[in-house]
Amino acid sequence: MFLGVLMSNASISIKNVLLFINNTFIRGGLYIEDGKIKKIAKDIKLPNADSVIDGNGNLLIPGGIDVHVHFRDPGFTYKEDFYTGSCAAAAGGITTVLDMPNNKPMINTAQLLNEKKSIGEQKSIVDFSLHAGLPEKLEELIRINQTGVPSVKVYSYLLQDSISMLSRVFSFVKEHNLNFIFAIHAESRQLLVKNKRFIDDVGLKKDLTYHALHHSPDAEVKEIEAILELVKTHIVPVHFCHVSTKEGSELILSAKREGYPVSFEYTPHHLLLSHEKGYSMGPIAKVNPPLRGQQHVMKLQGSISDVDIIASDHAPHTYEEKIKGIKDITKAPSGIVGVETLLPLLLTLAHNGFLSYEEAIKKITINPARIFSLPKGAIYEGADADLALIDRRKEWVIRGRELHGMTLFTPFEGLKVRGKVLMTLVRGRIVYQNGEILEKPGWGKFIESTSPIMVS
Ligand code: DOR
Ligand code: ZN
Ligand code: ZN
Repeated sequence: MFLGVLMSNASISIKNVLLFINNTFIRGGLYIEDGKIKKIAKDIKLPNADSVIDGNGNLLIPGGIDVHVHFRDPGFTYKEDFYTGSCAAAAGGITTVLDMPNNKPMINTAQLLNEKKSIGEQKSIVDFSLHAGLPEKLEELIRINQTGVPSVKVYSYLLQDSISMLSRVFSFVKEHNLNFIFAIHAESRQLLVKNKRFIDDVGLKKDLTYHALHHSPDAEVKEIEAILELVKTHIVPVHFCHVSTKEGSELILSAKREGYPVSFEYTPHHLLLSHEKGYSMGPIAKVNPPLRGQQHVMKLQGSISDVDIIASDHAPHTYEEKIKGIKDITKAPSGIVGVETLLPLLLTLAHNGFLSYEEAIKKITINPARIFSLPKGAIYEGADADLALIDRRKEWVIRGRELHGMTLFTPFEGLKVRGKVLMTLVRGRIVYQNGEILEKPGWGKFIESTSPIMVS
């Protein structure tokens, strides 16, 4: 049906598609030259190209942006690296990722960020940006601010006293006029410690229920509440990662409605899997924040229209590492892979009526582009030709062994989804088509944060 790998600077036209432009679908096609979208038109008006792709009436959307992935490179490349992680992204219609800093070493200096950029540029097949880790000395934030990364990631439960620490960090950022958004994993360390003491005293069996009670919903809600107070004092942009409670999202939403610079993300696993469903999978379904009870999941689903971003929190670990927790859940690492299944699961939620297709696509394209100031996420003349061709009606079943990253197991195993990525283009190159990776390591580029792009 489609042409194979194209020459690097070949012009391409993609005809007979439903283009997602300005939040709506338009029948037509587009013409790509030098990696950019040069012309958008009714098919008949497109210039002649070196190759012509017939989209067969499928959707052509901006490539997805996954703002939350752990590609483990450097430090844990036996779990995933920039090449394998980016192959999984490409196969899932994701053309830009924001990689988390919890590598070995933690990427929390300008020098380490620059080194990681060059690892990404040697290995990735999709474009990327990076989250910086919180540096030991706050002065380092001044240098980090010059590296072009948009955000600083904070794991609040790893800080002794997260609220006073964050207060110092926010004051520093304001004082030096630094342009960051803080991406925060919000869980209260004090409550985690208290919960653990309680369940250990009771002598609870160390299964997934132990993990869920340790990382309780109120540990998330209380921390979000305290951080929002800081935002109101310091007026610093904060993005809350993987919110798993409706109570947490309601607090963020009301601050947002009052005009404070806050945003938040949900993950497909918190939207589609519950503690009850995950229980029998044991350590495979261990993740932080944990899968919540069915009541929480339903409430989260009901509030999906309010969330700014859906992100995967792609967090690979080896099977050997995971099964160490079969008898004692505390011995397994937390994390679920998801960059490849993010878009199909989101399309499935849209198909099932939880939100419209238009809303769903915005939550992984233009919304993340705006929040993290990336010049990506929209189809317009002059934009990078980052695109995903999607068969919205195609039903298929998620199989771990068919994934394109290093991890070949997933808690979504066997789930029937509706919506299949047929082809992915990054800056005009076909990186993935019909099950096959077509690009070599190193095509991906580090994308500097800019002021937000304007799309009418
Ligand atoms: O489940 C998780 N896995 N939650 C985190 O916050 C970290 C992540 C990881 O890096 O494995
Ligand atoms: Zn996290
Ligand atoms: Zn994460």
